[in-house]
Amino acid sequence: MAILSIPEKSIQISKVQEIRQFLNQRGIFYDQWSCDVIFNDTVSSEDILKAYSKDLTPFMENGGYETADVISINSLTENYGAIRAKFLAEHIHTEDEIRFFVDGQGLFWFNLDTEPVFNLLCQRGDLISVPAGSKHWFDAGETNPFVKAIRIFIDMSGWVPHYTNSKIEEQFQEFKIPV
Ligand SMILES: [Fe+2]
Repeated sequence: MAILSIPEKSIQISKVQEIRQFLNQRGIFYDQWSCDVIFNDTVSSEDILKAYSKDLTPFMENGGYETADVISINSLTENYGAIRAKFLAEHIHTEDEIRFFVDGQGLFWFNLDTEPVFNLLCQRGDLISVPAGSKHWFDAGETNPFVKAIRIFIDMSGWVPHYTNSKIEEQFQEFKIPV
């Protein structure tokens, strides 16, 4: 279940319909997929993709997406500090960044220029598509990161981050993930 926060306004939205509407009005696609498979720690990427194929296959066909893979980060991930830093600096991509959260959680931050920065806490079942060219960053947390997500691409080269070097993300380092 996602939670949308606008820190500068102390606003929090947790109703799915309101989150969807807020994001859709800003050109950000959001959806929720359900799955009754319980994954263990050793589940393969193939099994995860297969478990969500009911939603994943039509989504990819309709959107012209070519590939999907699974990214998994946890407290045993080597070089997590460097990995975190790569996502944590504000950047854009030349294609949509689509993530479906299978397990764990992470914060997608958006800087749309025309309004205060907001973030979406994404958890199990949340699908988000960050539009190409949108300034954003992502954080799975400083300690005890845990996120397992499906990444969906048209072309993997489109996923290369182009950093803005604004350092705006530093203004939000104290933000506490809502519970
Ligand atoms: Fe990104």
